[in-house]
Amino acid sequence: MSAQNYVKRMTAPEISARKGGDPIVCLTAYDAPTASILDEHCDLILVGDSVGMVVHGLNSTVGVTMEMMILHGQAVMRGSQKALVVVDMPFGSYEDGKERAFQNASRMMMETGCQAIKIESGSYAAETIRYLVERGIPVMSHVGLRPQSHHVLGGFRARGRRESVANEIVENAKSAAEAGSFAVVVEGVSKEIADKVTESVSIPTIGIGASANCDGQILVTPDMLGLFDRVPKFVHKFADQKALVEKAASDYAANVKDRSFPRAENVYHFKK
Ligand code: KIV
Repeated sequence: MSAQNYVKRMTAPEISARKGGDPIVCLTAYDAPTASILDEHCDLILVGDSVGMVVHGLNSTVGVTMEMMILHGQAVMRGSQKALVVVDMPFGSYEDGKERAFQNASRMMMETGCQAIKIESGSYAAETIRYLVERGIPVMSHVGLRPQSHHVLGGFRARGRRESVANEIVENAKSAAEAGSFAVVVEGVSKEIADKVTESVSIPTIGIGASANCDGQILVTPDMLGLFDRVPKFVHKFADQKALVEKAASDYAANVKDRSFPRAENVYHFKK
């Protein structure tokens, strides 16, 4: 890229400074062409470990590996120029100690070129977040419904609809903020709790199944594009990608069968 068309990417401190300001627009991406389309519209692109479910067909994010996240992180970095790119740390890569978390998070940044990582943040996470941030790794936290813990939480149901769980979620967000996270994803909680988290922390909250009062919003892109019939209640389908792909595939199949494809303009001939 020449110096003239160099576009400065959004930074983690710039996202952090948006607390209480203009809503922060975030979406997930897993490949270069999608990232290049979203880049113009998003402040932050998350290479979510949801890739395991929405791209690789796994039934949870637990089977996602460092290698998968690195490969998708590299693709998204190639496709985008402007948005802050955050890559999810997969299950098992950061929970058991800050040193191993640093090894894996630094590898993620070095091999993908991403500018930040995200970890699902239970009460154990504050020490790790502080350790990573002090060593140059911007951290986005994730509280509420933490899909990597779905076996412990008892599924993918919304959390924070009871007082005891609600307090735990607010405390997790507060300790993640105090430890130095630049933003916190709040997933699958009641609006009341999401609003309480937004009021209680000094960093932006990024809601998904949370509240319109969060400092930003994120959705899993294939969900909001309408690729799947079944999506969580909190997803609004902004397009009907499934119908589009079905129609294109069926038109293509018909054209192949009746030999109307390739069309005249699609074939090569000897040069004259
Ligand atoms: O993995 C993911 O896509 C996420 C979002 C749901 C925030 O963590």
